[in-house]
Amino acid sequence: MAIVQNWLPPSRENWELVCYIWQFFPVITAFQWLLDWYPQGKTSTNFRFNIPGAIGWATMESAGFLTLVYIMNALPKELGIEELPWGNWTMAGCFVIHYTYRAVLSPLFLNPSMSPIHPLVWTLAFLFQIFNSTAIGGWLAGYGPTTVHDWAGRFWVMEIGLVLWAWGLLGNIFHDDDLREIRRAADRQQRQEAEKLGKPPKSVHKVYMIPKNGLFKYVLYAHYLCEWIEWAGFWMVGGWHCGPARMFLVNEIATMLPRALQGKRWYIQRFGKEKVGNRKAIIPGLV
Ligand SMILES: NC(=O)c1ccc[n+]([C@@H]2O[C@H](COP(=O)([O-])OP(=O)(O)OC[C@H]3O[C@@H](n4cnc5c(N)ncnc54)[C@H](OP(=O)(O)O)[C@@H]3O)[C@@H](O)[C@H]2O)c1
Repeated sequence: MAIVQNWLPPSRENWELVCYIWQFFPVITAFQWLLDWYPQGKTSTNFRFNIPGAIGWATMESAGFLTLVYIMNALPKELGIEELPWGNWTMAGCFVIHYTYRAVLSPLFLNPSMSPIHPLVWTLAFLFQIFNSTAIGGWLAGYGPTTVHDWAGRFWVMEIGLVLWAWGLLGNIFHDDDLREIRRAADRQQRQEAEKLGKPPKSVHKVYMIPKNGLFKYVLYAHYLCEWIEWAGFWMVGGWHCGPARMFLVNEIATMLPRALQGKRWYIQRFGKEKVGNRKAIIPGLV
């Protein structure tokens, strides 16, 4: 049963329209190159309608994998496809694993604190998720490969893509956790001091330091770089002609690259050029 007739799950015509519009997403990110105003994370502002960080991330990022799971279940029935091939389920699994971490575990259970999000940033991220999951979900659930033969002869490329995807995800989690450790360590220290003074511990909200482990030695946004590697591997699994996986990677780069460059400017302003040293924003030795 469709939730929204012809849209959720999408008819072929509407899916093609979504994919067409989605390729222009980098144009929207032009404002990130022109403006330093980006009210989220390090550069969050005190806006009265801000959404608390953890709730904001959980809600905006869950929209993607929930939409994809729904399309994977509903669309094949509408199209009369009895069973989708394992390649389709493998890619859907990769997507769901990543977003279970990003939308549920990370904000709700692992992150010590997250800055509030402006409703505009939340809305753009939510729309990103809807477009992306509709494009990928439609491809995986009936408008892309539908039989085992469609995947034939691609086993080795898929395997390499999956390895890349897994290393990218692990790298992303490792570097995310290095950032968490900064606040966990600060929290331990605040608690020790508070115990000595007999006062309640101070919050570690908005405590920042320069991360130094792993690839953070070379770049300030190592977690972003690993996420790009992850989705490059995902695209490889889907194959060169998997437009939705390609658009996902391109659109992530389009929004995360200017954000990382802005972040580097923020680190230099906050800690000084000397402390930041030779670190690049996102690609070692390059950018
Ligand atoms: N932003 C995007 O456009 C985007 C797009 C796709 C995927 N992602 C992925 O989503 C994840 C989070 O992205 P993000 O843009 O929120 O990353 P981020 O700005 O680096 O923040 C990640 C988390 O670490 C904290 N943090 C950041 N830098 C810190 C530092 N120097 N010291 C201590 N804590 C620090 C942040 O706290 P605060 O919130 O208080 O700053 C936040 O909880 C990343 O793994 C990224 O790959 C992001």
